[in-house]
Amino acid sequence: MSKSQNDDRIVIFDTTLRDGEQSPGASMNLDEKLRIAEILEGMGVDVIEAGFPITSEGDFEAVNEIAKVTKNSIVAGLSRAVHMDIERCAEAIKPAARGRIHTVIATSPIHMKYKLQMEPGEVLDRVIDSVSFARKFTDDVEWSAEDASRTEHDFLCRCIEEAIKAGAGTVNIPDTVGYAVPEEFGALISMIFNRVPNIDKAVVSVHCHNDLGLAVANTLAAVKAGARQVECTVNGLGERAGNAAMEEIVMALRTRQDLMPVISSIKTEEIMKISKLVSTVTGFSVQPNKAIVGANAFAHESGIHQDGILKHAGTYEIMTPESVGVTTSSLVLGKHSGRHAFKEKLITLGYELGDNAVEDAFKRFKDLADKKKEIFDEDLVALVDDEVVRANDRIQLISLEILCGTRHRPPKAELELEIDGETKACKSTGDGPVDAAFNCVKDLFPHAARLQLYQVHAVTHGTDAQAEVTVRLEENGRTVNGQSADTDTMVASVKAYVNALNKLLVKRKKIAPAALSA
Ligand code: KIV
Ligand code: ZN
Repeated sequence: MSKSQNDDRIVIFDTTLRDGEQSPGASMNLDEKLRIAEILEGMGVDVIEAGFPITSEGDFEAVNEIAKVTKNSIVAGLSRAVHMDIERCAEAIKPAARGRIHTVIATSPIHMKYKLQMEPGEVLDRVIDSVSFARKFTDDVEWSAEDASRTEHDFLCRCIEEAIKAGAGTVNIPDTVGYAVPEEFGALISMIFNRVPNIDKAVVSVHCHNDLGLAVANTLAAVKAGARQVECTVNGLGERAGNAAMEEIVMALRTRQDLMPVISSIKTEEIMKISKLVSTVTGFSVQPNKAIVGANAFAHESGIHQDGILKHAGTYEIMTPESVGVTTSSLVLGKHSGRHAFKEKLITLGYELGDNAVEDAFKRFKDLADKKKEIFDEDLVALVDDEVVRANDRIQLISLEILCGTRHRPPKAELELEIDGETKACKSTGDGPVDAAFNCVKDLFPHAARLQLYQVHAVTHGTDAQAEVTVRLEENGRTVNGQSADTDTMVASVKAYVNALNKLLVKRKKIAPAALSA
């Protein structure tokens, strides 16, 4: 029995902030990454892959800042098998209480020939060199064989053996292009256990992509075959069809202990919270019928099912909604609630704000209570997130008037923005109210960013629900997601657009400090 197979604990390696962020449009800023990392750590994720430090200043900073504040989870950074990458990654993870260098090189014939243009012998040398070099900076080195599922078995085994000899404590077997099927992938992991002589010295990890919709199934097949680290992302975010979804793996392991007797340290009750945060900051909404975290995952529509559930929940529920953090929306504070109760409620929702921030949020809560009869937990989360998101914005919405409907052709918008302390006003028309309002923003703050996504969701039910709007802008290949929530959909739309512009300004400042104007 090897080190991996023998152990009944499974290491959860979350790569939402690295592979997840590689999905086109799913960009997150530093504050958002820090918030996500904090929740991942709090929910018991063992390894947080926080970025790919050589690729950009932003990625370096994210890994470095997360490394500074994370105490229990291991913070990993990705690097290719080159010294420059590994050095940058080592620098980024330096402040971590527990840091890991994750180094990768492709091993499949097609990748070696066309992408790397290297002979297998050269790749093998790089494996040994990269792992040994990474070990100079940390004892915790993970080695990945990119496109492992399409790699010749003899060569894969050889590379794994040499990586372990060179000091890799974890060897990762990715199904990079989502090509494998479960039986085959499980057999691949068994083959590795049977043929690599020193496999007992490392943890065997898997990293599955979802191109055929099999990422979670392949991951579980690998666990059954002895893999003891699983790489995954929240909501299955990731390149192309995404990565294996963390919530699905964790709940499958928990629900089917009879077949897979391994335990993870994830506090599953936090699943819904992290799912919502990731979907809000990336603008990647969760489909209603998505397993575990979809809005319908625990909804029972048919009469027969409802009847069964009322008699015994186990008739149609294989896990409880509470076990993944789905609670029946509780009515929170009313119009007459005081500051103290408000602050206490925020703490139960996971927000510990300073006095000024509480005061601002409290004022907004009172405004909301004037507009909306019932305020739920979700409303408070949207309200506080909105406050946090906007804290340092250079452009702020001051006022908005819209004229639209059957008698107003074309729709008209009147808008005031405060830009770096100066109030500017504009009137504009458009094809619809959103277009008219966005045209005003462009007049007041000219820019060439392209609108890639405009998305509206209702935070809760009912016609007085807050609208949660996401606006994605793209400029010179850089994307940002702006968010806002308000009972007025148009106000939320303009605030989300303005928030995206503010994020673009921060990006521009980092890239070219002089280019701060529109
Ligand atoms: O999909 C992949 O092969 C990867 C590696 C970097 C692990 O993301
Ligand atoms: Zn990947």
